[in-house]
Amino acid sequence: MATEDTHGLGYQRVDDDPNADVLIATMDETAGWDATLRLRSWEREHLGLAHDARLLDVGCGLGEVALGLARDLGDDGEVVGVDLSERMLRVARSNAGAARCRVRFTLGDACSLDEPDDSFDAARSERTLQWLADPAAAVAEMVRVVRPGGRVSLIDADWSTFAIDVGDDALGALVRDGMRTERGRPSNVGGRLHDLVSAAGCVTLARTGAAQTWTTWDPDESPTPRGCFSMESLADDLVATGHLAAADRGRFVSTIHEAARRGRFLMSLTMFGVVAKVP
Ligand SMILES: C[S@@+](CC[C@H](N)C(=O)[O-])C[C@H]1O[C@@H](n2cnc3c(N)ncnc32)[C@H](O)[C@@H]1O
Repeated sequence: MATEDTHGLGYQRVDDDPNADVLIATMDETAGWDATLRLRSWEREHLGLAHDARLLDVGCGLGEVALGLARDLGDDGEVVGVDLSERMLRVARSNAGAARCRVRFTLGDACSLDEPDDSFDAARSERTLQWLADPAAAVAEMVRVVRPGGRVSLIDADWSTFAIDVGDDALGALVRDGMRTERGRPSNVGGRLHDLVSAAGCVTLARTGAAQTWTTWDPDESPTPRGCFSMESLADDLVATGHLAAADRGRFVSTIHEAARRGRFLMSLTMFGVVAKVP
């Protein structure tokens, strides 16, 4: 499952990916991360959706957040979820039956939304900008389709914050250095969300961050820490970027696995959120 710049988990073209099932299952796992839950609850509070509001979810994935927020919209609101993956949308549609308001899950590209100007009260996008060639274009599209005074909400990871502590300083430094540089995708976009909404002419109303930490992991029970890539694919990536010598790949992986078996495993990633007002 190796792709060269995404540690084996890439969401740019889910439907063409032979590991689409893994990608979809991983979405379920990351939905259970503490940081994800905290950011979604924070977002809900700051979106303050009215009963008859129209909400757009860009890169809606399995649709669970759109459907959760649909509960705030009463009978008269509407939720539209847009995603580039028909497979993701199929799951989202299959879960939409219980919604009271109108719900539409539709195929589309975040950078070229097939929706009229000023037609939504709010638009959100979570963990999707990091997979786009041009996140600013997607934010500009969200701002275009939200009415003046409406809200835009962005949540994304900043992979430059990713850290592994297994009691080996050299290994920790190597991982930090390797994750700092973006390669082929805006993996650190989480740290730039405020800049993105500002550049699109919006005023930031609230911003926050939440660190996801993994304190336990048994590599004999699960090949990856919950919702994350494998240490083998991380090693492959570090070899590809020249941060790890190919000859040290096995030792890198076994050092982490053995530390995790001993209970000496700490891994973290910070995700950020911003809610902004459209002028
Ligand atoms: C990591 S998932 C996040 C899904 C969901 N927002 C969540 O947080 O659970 C990224 C999603 O973005 C979608 N995606 C990737 N590129 C896209 C694009 N250009 N336009 C719309 N959606 C896209 C993928 O198909 C995938 O469903």
